[in-house]
Amino acid sequence: MKVDLHVNGAVLVLDLDARVTLLDALREHAGLTGAKKGCDQGQCGACTVLIDGRRVLSCLTLAATARGKITTIEGLADGHALHPMQEAFVACDALQCGYCTPGQIMSAIACIEEGHANTRDEIREYMSGNLCRCAAYPKIVDAIEQVRDATHAERG
Ligand code: FES
Ligand code: FES
Repeated sequence: MKVDLHVNGAVLVLDLDARVTLLDALREHAGLTGAKKGCDQGQCGACTVLIDGRRVLSCLTLAATARGKITTIEGLADGHALHPMQEAFVACDALQCGYCTPGQIMSAIACIEEGHANTRDEIREYMSGNLCRCAAYPKIVDAIEQVRDATHAERG
């Protein structure tokens, strides 16, 4: 079937089997390999993307049902200018192998937008769907706090 996906500001028209997940559509059919396949079972968060600003596990979402504006890690930077959350992850050294990082960053952006980044405990709670086998958790929380504080300062 023909599936229209609105990804990172472009419309992609893909010819897909109705059973293809959004994750596989992005990675295998659209060449967007930023979202990672960790467990493929909704357990690890590595495949997290945003749809209309809400975090979604793309491994549990059928491409054919993915309505709305999809943002993947590839859509965050503005040319060579990284998104503030990407910059914060680099500045805070919030990654080791990097496999979970695209999902962590997408989730972190939503965590702040949802208003669930008020304390380190709250950040840990609302980021608990994103696993990191390298245990970079403390620095991931540092990065989120950094962006939260900058966002609050900006918005007054
Ligand atoms: Fe989707 Fe693990 S790959 S939650
Ligand atoms: Fe390696 Fe998170 S940085 S899994």
